[in-house]
Amino acid sequence: MNEENFHIPVLSNKAVEYLINENIENHILVDGTLGGGGYTKLIFGHSSFRGKVISIDKDEYALSHAMQILNEFADRIIFVNGNFADIKEIISAAGFDYISGIVLDLGLSSFQLNEEDGFSFMKDTPLDMRAFKKDELTASEILNSYSKDELTELFGNYGEIGNAGRLSDAIYKNRKVKKIATTFDLVNIVTHEYSLGNKNKIDFLAKIFQSLRIEVNSELKNLEKALADSTDLLIPGGRIVTVSYHSLEDRIIKNFFREKKKTSEKTDDPFFDKDIDPVLRILTKKPEAPSREEIRKNSRSRSAKLRAAEKI
Ligand SMILES: C[S@@+](CC[C@H](N)C(=O)[O-])C[C@H]1O[C@@H](n2cnc3c(N)ncnc32)[C@H](O)[C@@H]1O
Repeated sequence: MNEENFHIPVLSNKAVEYLINENIENHILVDGTLGGGGYTKLIFGHSSFRGKVISIDKDEYALSHAMQILNEFADRIIFVNGNFADIKEIISAAGFDYISGIVLDLGLSSFQLNEEDGFSFMKDTPLDMRAFKKDELTASEILNSYSKDELTELFGNYGEIGNAGRLSDAIYKNRKVKKIATTFDLVNIVTHEYSLGNKNKIDFLAKIFQSLRIEVNSELKNLEKALADSTDLLIPGGRIVTVSYHSLEDRIIKNFFREKKKTSEKTDDPFFDKDIDPVLRILTKKPEAPSREEIRKNSRSRSAKLRAAEKI
């Protein structure tokens, strides 16, 4: 399989431009979402890059595929099959105590969305959705074991679905009769409960599948932890770059950057707020978006937003 079949990288040139601070001589960079290896490869093509890259992916298959593509740089890459949320442990196990940059291109690769079990509602596969097969909970287990309230919260928060109670009621009723085991089991429940036109049906199913995916892979929790821990590890001038694909992720990143650039903190004293040193300088006043040309070539890139910040 070639690189483009596996995944077409989104905003990759811009991401690498932001990631590499040319004033730093010897880099220790982290590609926290190796995927098809597109970003890591571009780092080696950057004229100012000298140093090493630690390339991480949760998905074993993605990792072994990218290792072949990046073979010519193998002596300067440390490949890690792990979770970017464990960045502190990963960096320390690699023998370092700081990094000069990290990039997170969030979400999943085209290969995962098209080929791995449970992600696509267009074909009937087991409802798995784990990017990391060592994780315990599958989407099917969530649908069959969460309480009605837990399901309502999940679909409301992660899918931003209004009146999510109706959906969890339908799931609850159906799972008593038959275990929800495959993607089409879930699709059938939805199509029986709601009469929707084709476009609305696709949008609705996309929201449902997105919320399950976020829960199975703890996507938002991992992101929050990775942002905080990577910022601790960055040296002054080191960069943190994110590419996100939905508003929940983007909100977390935007708020985190804002919080870290603040210069004062609220205290109990109404007349006096505590001065604090800012930790990050935001490099992207507005998020960068893909060009029209990029969206034309790869429709999945249309919702992408790139944000970058530099450690002070
Ligand atoms: C959008 S793709 C990255 C594509 C990559 N930039 C490229 O150029 O091919 C996202 C990748 O991140 C991985 N991933 C998602 N969450 C992760 C996490 N918490 N830790 C490590 N890898 C993760 C997925 O398995 C997937 O391969």
